[in-house]
Order: sequence, then C-alpha cells, then structure tokens
Amino acid sequence: MVASENVPPVVPSAGDCPARWYSDEQVAEGKRLFTALCAECHGKDAAATPDWRRPDANGNYPPPPLNGSAHTWHHSLEVLRETIQNGGAPLGGVMPGFADRLSMQEIDAVIAWIQSLWPEEVYRVWSRMNCKSDE
Ligand code: HEC
Repeated sequence: MVASENVPPVVPSAGDCPARWYSDEQVAEGKRLFTALCAECHGKDAAATPDWRRPDANGNYPPPPLNGSAHTWHHSLEVLRETIQNGGAPLGGVMPGFADRLSMQEIDAVIAWIQSLWPEEVYRVWSRMNCKSDE
C-alpha cells in the first residue's frame, strides 16, 4: 500500500469501518518510537508479558502484550490514546504517562504500529466494535 503524504488518516467513525485507519508511514514512525520508549517494558515486539494476568508480589500487574494476544483490542482508539498519555495510574496501574514526551501524532503512530501486529480477525473485531460505539 502506498499512502500519500499530507493526507490525514481516516479514523473510524459511524458506519465507516475502513480496512486500516493508519498509513505505512505511521507504522514505521510508531515502531521507532515504541522501540525507544515502550519496548523496555512491553518487549520489542510488544509480546511481553505472556503471563500478564498474574500480579507481582506488590500486587501490580506486569506490562501486558499489546500485540493482539491480550486484551488491548477491547479498548477504543480514544482509550488507547488516554492510556498512553496518562499511563496506568488513573486505573491503579504503574505504567508512566507519555503526554509530556509524545505528541498526539506520535501517540497515534505508536498505536498504528501496535495495531499492525494484530491478526486480521482481531483488527476486524476491534474495527467493528469501534464503528458501532460511534453510532
Ligand atoms: C515502565 C514500564 C512501561 C513502559 C515504559 C510502558 N508501559 Fe505500557 N504498560 C505498563 C504496565 C505495567 C501496564 C499495565 C497497566 C499498569 O500497570 O499501568 C501497561 C499497559 C499499557 C496499555 C494498556 C494495555 C491493555 O491491554 O489494557 C497500553 C496500550 C500500553 N501500556 C502502551 C504503552 C506504550 C505505547 C508505551 C510507550 C509509549 C508504553 N506502554 C510504555 C508498563 C509500561
């Protein structure tokens, strides 16, 4: 797929479930940012931690996989953006927020890369849920 520059990505909205809302450029930028900022906890391929449902000795949950194998795909784009901006503290978690380090565009790029790892069926279910929730 060749995505043209300067064309804003199509974000899912009512009645419109596009194949993928992001461009190849966003995926590439997101991968770079993820490697720099997120991989230390979530793993370089976003597959850590396989045993994400088990809290540690302090009662904190480990960083979950973001690659579609855990429950990240239950979250809307809005919730994913807020999680990355604010971190896990509002939900009693330990992930740091990135609002002061990443712009909205950069956050969307990271989400694009994460979603590019999701199997097609997982993405399709997410896309359908999000189209519905916008109606
Ligand atoms: C210091 C370790 C750490 C870093 C760095 C980190 N995370 Fe997390 N992340 C966590 C933990 C731990 C959780 C589980 C919730 C909590 O405890 O806050 C989490 C949860 C999440 C979730 C929610 C997943 C779900 O299925 O509900 C998303 C999305 C996420 N992280 C994305 C990112 C992105 C994107 C970055 C980089 C910009 C990042 N994280 C950097 C530790 C980290």
